[in-house]
Amino acid sequence: MSRQRVILGVGGGIAAYKSAELVRLLVQAGFEVQPVLTEAAGHFITPLTLSTLSHRKVITGLFSSSPDPQAILASSVEHINVALENDLLLVAPATANLLGHFANGIASDFLTTLYTAFTGTVLLAPAMNTNMWRNSAIQRNVERLSLDGVRFVGPDAGDLACGMVGPGRMAEPAEILAAVQHLLSPRQDLAGRKVLLTAGPTLEPIDPVRVLTNRSSGKMGYALAQAAKERGAEVHLVSGPVSLEAPQGVALYRVETASQMAKQVESLFPQSDTFIGVAAVADYTPAIVAPEKLKKSAGHLTLELVPTQDILATVGAHKRSQIVVGFAAETQNLDAEAQRKLVAKNCDLLVANHVDATASVFGSDLNQVRIHSRTNEPISFGPAPKTQVAHRILDEVAALLRQR
Ligand code: PMT
Repeated sequence: MSRQRVILGVGGGIAAYKSAELVRLLVQAGFEVQPVLTEAAGHFITPLTLSTLSHRKVITGLFSSSPDPQAILASSVEHINVALENDLLLVAPATANLLGHFANGIASDFLTTLYTAFTGTVLLAPAMNTNMWRNSAIQRNVERLSLDGVRFVGPDAGDLACGMVGPGRMAEPAEILAAVQHLLSPRQDLAGRKVLLTAGPTLEPIDPVRVLTNRSSGKMGYALAQAAKERGAEVHLVSGPVSLEAPQGVALYRVETASQMAKQVESLFPQSDTFIGVAAVADYTPAIVAPEKLKKSAGHLTLELVPTQDILATVGAHKRSQIVVGFAAETQNLDAEAQRKLVAKNCDLLVANHVDATASVFGSDLNQVRIHSRTNEPISFGPAPKTQVAHRILDEVAALLRQR
């Protein structure tokens, strides 16, 4: 099998000295590494160091210094070739300047031009002063890049070269290597596990033509099903009506009502290791479904609604050694509500997402979550694509399964 190829872009910051160790670790782990230095990075580390460790010519600029026309021609397309030949673009340290260029598509040197030509996975390890990291312009760029699917490792918090203490330290080379390995070969940490999920909305019929429903698109649940499959699990997905394709290799059970969803979950749960309730299940259903279409009349119409079965609470009450994960979409008191539902429904984890009028989680490709557990402080993650959020949630699930 050919070795996987990683471009290591090095930005001009004091953390650039760690890039030598990073190249060493990547090479030792079996990757081919193509170093690219920005002009500023050349003030902190020499091309000779990185080429000695990577056994490759280090790229330092867009233009060839050779007068040979062939060399000039080759250098004019080098960024395209390097982009095509590699599996992952890692930038460590990713400075504030580089984040700004990447976020805004400004191609002004080899690395930033390469970024615009690269179609594979991009992993950034930011490093800068704490105040710079917290600056709203920088955070906007980070958010923009997350929306574009760029992955981040770090920054860590701690003592900084400038004398301040706080977030801004580049992640350690070993942590960056682990992130590269994770991205290039998704872990099989759910191999042999059976994961049961619910996703999408439910439809509660009022009469033969009308239903009560909600805005869930199924994207979050389907992303989790796909991520669990990628990590080796046998996945069973009970889905309300959505317009998404079932992820490949996932067993899909289509249902409409909360009661059908409850029945399907009840039959599958005893054979499962993990239940993840992502569906936005109707809390109430009409007491009577009118056999004929209700006719419009001049006055008010009152519908009598009765509570549906709480699927998550039922599963929570009957679990043995299984991991049970609930979701909560809240418009206010996010943490308090999440903690209340975690306990009330006997969950191991509860993923809370904020719903607001401007950036609704419903139907969006992005989500921003707080993962509540029984023992630890809530973990904040995002805004990030739902696929990334799914993997972050599964990291926690896999850790809990290992403890059982
Ligand atoms: O589908 P998307 O567009 O991607 O949007 C994703 C999402 C917002 C639907 C998802 O992230 C989410 O938050 N799902 C739960 C939304 C919700 O309705 O929460 P809730 O507070 O009503 O319910 C809490 C938990 O109990 C959920 O796990 C729910 O599945 C479960 N529940 C609720 C009622 C019920 N009768 N049975 C249940 O199992």
